[in-house]
Amino acid sequence: MVIKGRHSRVPYRKSSPSTLIFTTLITFSFFIVILLALGILSIPSASRGSPSGHDLSSIVHNTIDSDGDDWRGDQWVEVISWEPRAFIYHNFLSKDECAYLINIAKPQMQKSMVVDTATGKSKDSRVRTSSGAFLPRGRDKIIRNIEKRIADFSFIPVEHGEGLHVLHYEVGQKYEPHYDYFLDEFNTKHGGQRIATVLMYLSDVEDGGETVFPVAKGNISSVPWWNELSECGKKGLSVKPKMGDALLFWSMRPDATLDSSSLHGSCPVIKGNKWSCTKWMRVGEYKAA
Ligand SMILES: *[C@@H]1O[C@H](CO)[C@@H](O)[C@H](O)[C@H]1NC(C)=O
Repeated sequence: MVIKGRHSRVPYRKSSPSTLIFTTLITFSFFIVILLALGILSIPSASRGSPSGHDLSSIVHNTIDSDGDDWRGDQWVEVISWEPRAFIYHNFLSKDECAYLINIAKPQMQKSMVVDTATGKSKDSRVRTSSGAFLPRGRDKIIRNIEKRIADFSFIPVEHGEGLHVLHYEVGQKYEPHYDYFLDEFNTKHGGQRIATVLMYLSDVEDGGETVFPVAKGNISSVPWWNELSECGKKGLSVKPKMGDALLFWSMRPDATLDSSSLHGSCPVIKGNKWSCTKWMRVGEYKAA
């Protein structure tokens, strides 16, 4: 006996063209559903895929590090002002991280400069008498860890940050009130305007050295530490430096206009030493030179 084609065993049933089209459509729909379920096919949507193509899975699974080997103590957030928008993250850095930043910055401390608004270049100034050192972004594991934390707490990506800037103020040294945003074209070429600042205190200061916002709105004397403030500190809304604390304030309002209430300065140190570390965040990605 000769075996013919497989189909020859099944009797061929004739079906109407409409039934055939219907069956084909059902089969096709079923196939599409399976592909969608398996993730092989995806429905295009406007919200999907950011232009820079961030891996969202890593963000979703991200938790704030509470690695036991470097205990940072109790952490809490304090809203100190809405004009300017300013918040204190208590115990943001561990003691070890503070000491680390001071130690790596120490050998390269230089007299602080300010930006010349006419040329955009740095210049020596009497309004800023501290000394400072720049630490490039992503310099080492500890710094990357801190920069990641800053991004998590400021809601601004690491790539928008300038390098860290460690500052040292000795007795009498200060920084007169100023804005962190730029009023010149030169400095906003890369990354755009400065949107926010995270100021970390690396040391306690016995007396003076407060960060003062002279034109902040609200009752400046209602802060619990009012009686501990220096004369300069009482001229505005003030934050007393405390080792490990971070102050986040915004130079721009939520509508992206410059917030002139973000004017701030560093009061003269009266007793002790002040070490701080600043992270300026830009509106756009900041490519370090
Ligand atoms: C400001 O706050 C202080 C302390 O809470 C209070 O004694 C004072 O009356 C307040 N001043 C105004 C103008 O509300």
